[in-house]
Amino acid sequence: MSESYKVAILGATGAVGTELLDLLQTRNFPVAELKLLASERSAGSTLKFKGQNLQVEAVTDDSFKEVDLVLASAGASTSKVWAKKAVEAGAVVIDNSSAFRMDPTVPLVVPEVNPKAAALHKGIIANPNCTTILMSVAVWPLHQVQPIQRLVVATYQSASGAGARAMAEMKTQAKEILDGEAPTTDIFPYPLAFNLFPHNSQLNDQGYCQEEMKMVNETRKIFDSNELRITPTCIRVPVLRAHSEAINLEFAEPFSVVKAREILSRSPGVTLVENWQENYFPMPMEASGKDDVLVGRIRQDISHPCGLELWLSGDQIRKGAALNAVQIAELLVAKNLLRMAVETF
Ligand code: A2P
Repeated sequence: MSESYKVAILGATGAVGTELLDLLQTRNFPVAELKLLASERSAGSTLKFKGQNLQVEAVTDDSFKEVDLVLASAGASTSKVWAKKAVEAGAVVIDNSSAFRMDPTVPLVVPEVNPKAAALHKGIIANPNCTTILMSVAVWPLHQVQPIQRLVVATYQSASGAGARAMAEMKTQAKEILDGEAPTTDIFPYPLAFNLFPHNSQLNDQGYCQEEMKMVNETRKIFDSNELRITPTCIRVPVLRAHSEAINLEFAEPFSVVKAREILSRSPGVTLVENWQENYFPMPMEASGKDDVLVGRIRQDISHPCGLELWLSGDQIRKGAALNAVQIAELLVAKNLLRMAVETF
């Protein structure tokens, strides 16, 4: 019988955590035992896994004993406290937070782009930022054929990127506004329902927010291309789940639309969604719950002979977070890198 592993989900009650639980089940990940970890707040609550009610535990120093794999999605500050403890206890951690992404000793992995980087892990593998994952899957196949010189991207990011409580807040806001009441803003700084605003992460001296700089720095690390010129504008939009992105690519030579379409129609993790007669292209509602990134509206940039425009929608919680993490875990199992890391630590 093939080997199975003791797995822990840190942040099991969150938007990404519950998706991780579902994916481990539906993708038949070899789980021998599953631990659900969160904060004191949700200790004692239960979640279903393979028909069984499992109790959520508050994470403690003892939580990682004999655990082989930790899938962490409880925010950067929580990961900074617990990831190294989990590695010391012998586990491999796939961390969904930003805590270790730019650490040069930590691989940052999108399985469709740089699967080999996973083999270099020393206990922690970082899962990239959601908008970065979705963009990487769509533009990497083109970058392979002709290196991208410059990338301009505008994002349309859903509430799910700010977690389960943010999704709930947006629904409450919609009701409140329709009832003529002032919208509650506990999680978001401004009302998101019937509105949009530039991503509210910290701004740097150049006027770029943290989310935008994540797209720049993480894409360069994943593509192993420090020179890649990227300029993003990240916007939070009143969509519940699934992000969208308008991407402009500039190459050294013209890139034919027909060729780009042909490449993307056979690229892993991508579904081409284009019906020009019907004006039908990727939409976040249709991307929700899907594994693939939906890509379409591929067209020649009329302002530049070597420019290409494309549009995508991808499920932020799935491929943008939980699915990418589980795919990394599957890669580790397939290459026997879970056990190896434990031995070499
Ligand atoms: P809890 O339900 O106990 O608050 P989301 O991204 O959807 O907001 O989810 C965040 C996840 O991270 C939840 O499962 C949350 O658990 C968990 N979490 C947040 N802070 C901590 C912490 N300090 N220790 C452990 N888990 C945490």
